[in-house]
Amino acid sequence: MSEETLSNLLHENRRFEPPADLAAAANVKADAYAAAEADPEGFWAQAAERLTWDQKWDRVLDWDNPPFAKWFVGGRINAAYNCVDRHVEAGRGDRVAIHWVGEPLEDARDLTYAELKDEVCKAANALTELGVRTGDRVAIYMPMIPEAVIAMLACARIGAPHTVVFGGFSAEALASRIEDCEAKVVVTSDGGYRRGAPSPLKPAVDEARAISAKSGHAVEKVLVVRRTGQDVDWDDAVDVWWHDTVDTASAEHTPEAFDAEHPLFVMYTSGTTGKPKGILHTTGGYLVGTSWTHYEVFDLKPETDVYWCSADIGWITGHSYIVYGPLANGATEVLYEGTPDFPERGRWWDIIEQHKVTIFYTAPTAIRSFMKQGREIPDSKDLSSLRLLGSVGEPINPEAYIWYREVIGGGRTPVVDTWWQTETGMILISPLPGVTAGKPGSAMKPLPGVGAEVVNDEGVPVPNGHGGYLVLTQPWPAMLRTIWGDDQRYVDTYWARFKDQGYYFAGDGAKKDEDGDLWLLGRVDDVMNVSGHRLSTTEIESALVSHPYVAESAVVGATDPDTGQAVVAYVILREEATKTLGEDGGEGIAKVLSDHVRKEIGPIAKPRQIMIVPELPKTRSGKIMRRLLRDVAEHREVGDVTTLADSTIMDLISAGQARSTDD
Ligand code: PRX
Repeated sequence: MSEETLSNLLHENRRFEPPADLAAAANVKADAYAAAEADPEGFWAQAAERLTWDQKWDRVLDWDNPPFAKWFVGGRINAAYNCVDRHVEAGRGDRVAIHWVGEPLEDARDLTYAELKDEVCKAANALTELGVRTGDRVAIYMPMIPEAVIAMLACARIGAPHTVVFGGFSAEALASRIEDCEAKVVVTSDGGYRRGAPSPLKPAVDEARAISAKSGHAVEKVLVVRRTGQDVDWDDAVDVWWHDTVDTASAEHTPEAFDAEHPLFVMYTSGTTGKPKGILHTTGGYLVGTSWTHYEVFDLKPETDVYWCSADIGWITGHSYIVYGPLANGATEVLYEGTPDFPERGRWWDIIEQHKVTIFYTAPTAIRSFMKQGREIPDSKDLSSLRLLGSVGEPINPEAYIWYREVIGGGRTPVVDTWWQTETGMILISPLPGVTAGKPGSAMKPLPGVGAEVVNDEGVPVPNGHGGYLVLTQPWPAMLRTIWGDDQRYVDTYWARFKDQGYYFAGDGAKKDEDGDLWLLGRVDDVMNVSGHRLSTTEIESALVSHPYVAESAVVGATDPDTGQAVVAYVILREEATKTLGEDGGEGIAKVLSDHVRKEIGPIAKPRQIMIVPELPKTRSGKIMRRLLRDVAEHREVGDVTTLADSTIMDLISAGQARSTDD
């Protein structure tokens, strides 16, 4: 974010007080901050009491061997029991858990808690029948259909950690995740609906299985939901239909209680190197953190609210705030399969009107795309049921915040801008809707019981009015426990930068305003944030370099009005390639390379622009100066080039022709 944007942000002085009725009835009031500060462990123990434990913990937190935390030590719990059975046992079996909305208009299905329980039990029995045992990993690669949630909960029920891979990732990306966590079984579907057409998934699983087999890892079974009815290749030794195995299984299943630190899932996310990191979350602390914050930040009243989080279950937001948090709280929620604008641009608002959604949680990139379409579409719908709006995934610019509040929220609803990460598992920085006056663009303060600071290079907190690195100063229940199979990488990535202080380094820049409130400024490392999705520059560079035409590449995230950041790639072609294609690679080169990135990683990683360049700007020690490449990508005057080994290079690059990668 430029200095100019930053100072504009800090001149933002609009304030929105919590509505009086919401404040009066809020789940969490202002006294929570002091209570948590006086006794953090007592505070989290109280949050844990909201769940049903088979055996209570002996100790809230074991931080004797930092940065390896144990929460609710000695406690035993089943996550799926907490998300379904206990609501049914308490007499709430008839409450709708999920209003599922398929993309085709005629597709819809409501699942009550009692029905969800039966489905989860059947799936747990079926997975056991397929050979899945406690501790085995199961990969889930699915569209947004109820079976995706059921599969996750079934895994949790039998203590088999799941790894959900976003359906937009390629076969290669799926294979690398399957291999890294050695998944025994994959759950998928024939396909899902995307903009009115069936879009296949099973072929990518077949391909991923073949790739993994070559590297010596055999997936034993693939469980396939029939969603679209499209043709699929079938391997009788491996593939089984969901309707043959799950639908016919018994709906009786006794959940086993697992240790609070039993692995619940692995979620892969981009870091600063090419290899995605498997973020490990465990059972007790994660469920406490997500259910508590869902209750606290969204002020959930499960008897009356209808909650909708528009994320995909393939990301952490879907795990924490579609599956585990809301269901542990007995919420009624919407699950939507498709794109926001199909069959027409008001689809999301129709869903809110139809289901009388009261709490809505989405990403700034979506809000900005609706802003572009104009307010006529939402204005023509009845959105008066909404009482609270949430934002996540990237900094929300004040214009988008105001539009969201005014146009979608009718000027009544608080907007909670929630900061967190795959690694944190739960929201850590956010206004409390009944307590905090909202400032457009600020995530405000750490939640009660959470320690966050902005520090300088030496790890010293900066004074109000200054910026620095965001760190977390104390452990929290839903924190990642490690990187799957790589404790050292866990220590190095998050805990080495401020080792002396014992701080977790989030990788984000932030500023404290004059009141000490926090404004998030985006990543300070080589991680990009495109439409709220994390991508690493090195991951895309490796994908580009794996193409036979490419000698070298450098990728930067450039500011983009729609997606927050966009991928811009600078590519040096191999000599052999230029001999046949010409110096600049010819007309079709950008499309060829961008298709290659799509194939290696997935459509979300597709560069907005590819620039064929003769050289890359490097320091004398050979480090690529991305700052200068960002200047070019963002059409700024190129900054200081004196540390470049060859200072004329930037003239050559700036003079080059950017190629759009549009199909
Ligand atoms: O840079 C921050 C940004 O998203 C990163 C985490 O990405 P991921 O692990 O994919 O999780 C996204 C959903 C929790 C953070 O390091 N980010 C997330 N929320 C915000 C944000 N940046 C600013 N404001 C936010 N509210």
